[in-house]
Amino acid sequence: MTYETILVEQRGAVTLITLNRPQALNALNSQVLKDLTAVFTAYDADPSQRCAVLTGSGDKAFAAGADIKEMVEKEAADFFLEDFFSGWQSGVVATRKPWIAAVNGFALGGGCELAMMADFIIASDTAKFGQPEIKLGVAPGMGGSQRLTRAVGKAKAMEMCLTGRMMGAEEAERSGLVARIVPAAELLDDALKTAETIASMPPMAAMINKEMVNVAFETGLAQGLLTERRLFQILTATQDKIEGMTAFVEKRPAQWKGR
Ligand code: HXC
Repeated sequence: MTYETILVEQRGAVTLITLNRPQALNALNSQVLKDLTAVFTAYDADPSQRCAVLTGSGDKAFAAGADIKEMVEKEAADFFLEDFFSGWQSGVVATRKPWIAAVNGFALGGGCELAMMADFIIASDTAKFGQPEIKLGVAPGMGGSQRLTRAVGKAKAMEMCLTGRMMGAEEAERSGLVARIVPAAELLDDALKTAETIASMPPMAAMINKEMVNVAFETGLAQGLLTERRLFQILTATQDKIEGMTAFVEKRPAQWKGR
């Protein structure tokens, strides 16, 4: 399957997705959303694929934002009637299997918001994050004001949204926005290796671990703890729980069944 705005490659059990509009610093237009929706839907449905990595082509940008040239002519009624940006929730965030954003340069506006939709971010030492929408007379529209605030806290999120200041990789790691920083030349290899580690885990357990951590963002502690216990109890009914624990006791590698 080929796509207009992204490149997709299966490397064993890992799907590598590359935003491929380098001439526009991988700006996110409607076609990118359509393509990502198609590829994430296919990824979720394919039992041979167990982790995905999303990165940007070129060495300059992961994505420099929603496509300003596409938005410039639109009126408020268009944004409202199309429920502009709502597709990111159903097309990308709703992905049930794990995926990593490998951020290789600018992640601005919608680009920062897309990276924050990932389960976690690995950043190159050249990465720069920001929500500069205020300079365009608008504000984040793909989750930036919410996810950035949850990730780095009110003070930094508010400062970044109000001034448009970019945050470099080191500050992003210190603030909890990214899991890890690696030298730019090693970013893709590192992200793919991390994805292979995740792909080697029992797949239902991977999906449920993802769901549990995400619940922490969306509910209070009591509800979150209850959900965690129930999801844990569901996992104890899988063949992979029996296999994982038996393999440990028998001192041998586990052979996952994926059920
Ligand atoms: C469309 C973009 C773009 C974008 C860059 N380009 N960002 N096109 N949408 N978001 C295009 C430029 O127009 C240019 O193409 C080419 O990419 C290279 O960009 P330059 O500006 O020449 O590169 P440089 O001088 O190195 O500056 C890099 C940059 C700058 C600092 C990242 O491009 C920039 O500030 N981009 C916009 C960042 C931004 O504001 N993002 C938020 C978007 S709004 P041409 O062909 O023109 O030379 C958003 C959510 C909005 O994401 C929600 C509101 C509803």
